[in-house]
Amino acid sequence: MNTKNIAKNTEKQSITRRNFLKTSCIALSGAATSLGTQKLLGKERPTEIPNINPGYIGPQFFDRHEEEALLEVLESRSPFRYWGSGKPTKVLHFEENFAKYMGARFALGVTSGTAALDCAVTGLGIGPGDEVIVPAYTWWSDYTCVVQAGALPVFADIDNTLNIDPIDLKRKITPRTKAVIAVHLLGGLCDMDPIMDIAGKNSVAVLEDCAQCVGGSYKGKTLGSIGDVGIYSFQVNKMMTSGEGGALVTSNPLIYERSARFHDMGTINRLFLDRSGPSQVQTFAGENFRMNEFTGAVLGAQLSKLDTMLTQLRSNAESVYNGIKNLPGIRLRNRPDPKGDIGYGVYFEMKDKATRNRCIEALRKRRVPASTLSGSVMLPVQESVINKRTRHPNWPSFNSPQGKKMKYGPDSCRQTLGIFDRFVQVRMGAKYTRRINDYIIDSIRMVYNSLV
Ligand SMILES: Cc1ncc(COP(=O)(O)O)c(C=O)c1O
Repeated sequence: MNTKNIAKNTEKQSITRRNFLKTSCIALSGAATSLGTQKLLGKERPTEIPNINPGYIGPQFFDRHEEEALLEVLESRSPFRYWGSGKPTKVLHFEENFAKYMGARFALGVTSGTAALDCAVTGLGIGPGDEVIVPAYTWWSDYTCVVQAGALPVFADIDNTLNIDPIDLKRKITPRTKAVIAVHLLGGLCDMDPIMDIAGKNSVAVLEDCAQCVGGSYKGKTLGSIGDVGIYSFQVNKMMTSGEGGALVTSNPLIYERSARFHDMGTINRLFLDRSGPSQVQTFAGENFRMNEFTGAVLGAQLSKLDTMLTQLRSNAESVYNGIKNLPGIRLRNRPDPKGDIGYGVYFEMKDKATRNRCIEALRKRRVPASTLSGSVMLPVQESVINKRTRHPNWPSFNSPQGKKMKYGPDSCRQTLGIFDRFVQVRMGAKYTRRINDYIIDSIRMVYNSLV
């Protein structure tokens, strides 16, 4: 097929795709469904329920920018980032713009957030004998990146920020602690000041995992640029997306070179050294986590809309938080810098698990997207974690004296289990209308008042 045909066919498909996008936006625009009356906690009340679907954020913003960028890659016939018949620049430019956006000197595009974590851990020089502190409630990759490096994961509890508790972090530091992974979970920020203070005083590196908080900020600094190294995921249910994909940022040339080497078999392409300066590291065994030009094309277009996505999502979450914050005794998620949250959801705590469950059930009856905390795993109680299972029985992580002594399980994360059991999550959408926000506020107020 020649380039003209590719363009023609793509145009045909793009019309269909545009129509699809149009209809999905209509579905999200809040068309009301009248369901007559609905029984809510024993009371009959007339209801007009808007169609509430937070959906995947990034794809709701797909438009001709992604299309054109993808077409350019197709037409250039250069889908590989380093060379080809055209001049591949999509990943290159994405990295440059992403580093600028995040306020770091260097960025590295990779194949996933998990790959970015593996590169970051390698960048920090973590290995057998080292301990890395990880929040008890987070995604698998924060645990697997430590284990894959042969180091020992040590869990710290979360607090009411729903992120790592600085008090428990301090308790978990030992002379072997090499790093802490500060995971900005569920669109909300870790309290970075105490974390940086504790880490600094103990010579512990800080890896910020911003996979669930892309574009968030803390006291004026963009997340990922506060610690030594930051990572991001562009998987579909994150903020900006290319389906799969990830990135790492750092301002440290050595961390950058080590990470860039690990992502490309341990070797280094000239372009990375052009950025970071003369090589400081010899070739070592690495992986292939290179980003391709199609991914770079979509991410370049998505990055140009990240501010718009953030503005919409934040403003919807803020209006719901404002609408419920004066409920008597309500305990909202502790947000160390509310302006920096990305607004993925609205979070509040009920007095116990049973009340929390009734709250979720009542909200869901009103078609409000309420749930327990989602998208992560209570790691210390997973069977494979408790049994310290690795890909080889002699794997170094759990064969050191400390690894053998380490006990995971529910007793290692009581505070986290309790917080998880009491919190309600209400998902927010970037395309929610004022009507939807008001409906969610009314629903939470009504359900909350009926339960306390
Ligand atoms: C907190 C966190 N870190 C890392 C990752 C890994 O990202 P990916 O799915 O792109 O590998 C995820 C994915 O869900 C995540 O939620």
